[in-house]
Amino acid sequence: MMNFQVAIDGPAGSGKSSVSKIVSKALGFKHIDTGAMYRAVTLEALKRKIDLNDEHAYSFLNELDLRLEHEKIYLNGQDVSKKIRSLEVTRNVSLVSSHKFVREKMIELQKNIALKGCVLMDGRDIGYNVLPNANIKIFLTASSEKRALRRYMELEEKENVNIKDIQKEIELRDYMDSNRKINPLKKASDAILLDTTDLSIDEVCDCIIKLIKDGMENAKRCNE
Ligand code: DC
Repeated sequence: MMNFQVAIDGPAGSGKSSVSKIVSKALGFKHIDTGAMYRAVTLEALKRKIDLNDEHAYSFLNELDLRLEHEKIYLNGQDVSKKIRSLEVTRNVSLVSSHKFVREKMIELQKNIALKGCVLMDGRDIGYNVLPNANIKIFLTASSEKRALRRYMELEEKENVNIKDIQKEIELRDYMDSNRKINPLKKASDAILLDTTDLSIDEVCDCIIKLIKDGMENAKRCNE
C-alpha cells in the first residue's frame, strides 16, 4: 500500500475544511479534520462543565473514545458531527486547544491515524508539527472579509447575524490561534502558500488535486 501524506493548514474560513473534504474524496484519501477533534474535546469539556482554563481538568481525555469515520466524528460512540459546530463550541475551542495536555493527546491520535495509507490532514500546525515529513504541504489564506462572508453563507439561520460580528470573531480566533505558546497557527517553511480570496472552491480543489497527483507521480518515480 502506498503511503502519502498531505498537510493543509490555514486560518478559520480559508476553505480548508470544504476543500479537504472534496479533494480527499476525489483521490480516495483518508481525511483527518483535526479542528473537528479539538471541537469534540471542547464539546465534552462544556458538557462536563469543567473549568476550561484548568489544564488538569482535561484528564477525562485519558478515557475518551474519539473516532473519525467517513467525515463524521464520534465521541464515546455518539455522532457529534453537528453539535461540534455550535456557536458555544466555536467560541471556546481556541482556549481548549491552547492547553499542552490537550494538544499532546490529540497529536498522538493524529499521528497514529496517519501512519498507514494515503491521508490528507487539515488544521493549524500539521505541516510543521504533526506531519513534518508530509509529501505535500499547503497553507491556505484569504482576507478576513472574504472568510467572514463564507462563514455567513454557510449559516442556516441568518437572522440576527451580522457579517461584521462574524469577521470580528474570526479575527479574534486568528489572533488566539496564531499567538498561543504551543503549536500556534503557522505556515511550514516548505509549504505552498495559496491565497483563496478570489478563487472558487472548484479552482482551489483543482489546483490542489494537480499538486497531489504530480507529487504522487514523483514519489512513485523515486521508488522505482
Ligand atoms: O478548523 P476549525 O475552525 O474547525 O478549528 C477549530 C479550532 O481548533 C481552531 O480555532 C484552533 C484549533 N485547532 C488547533 O489548534 N490545531 C489544529 N491542528 C486544528 C484546529
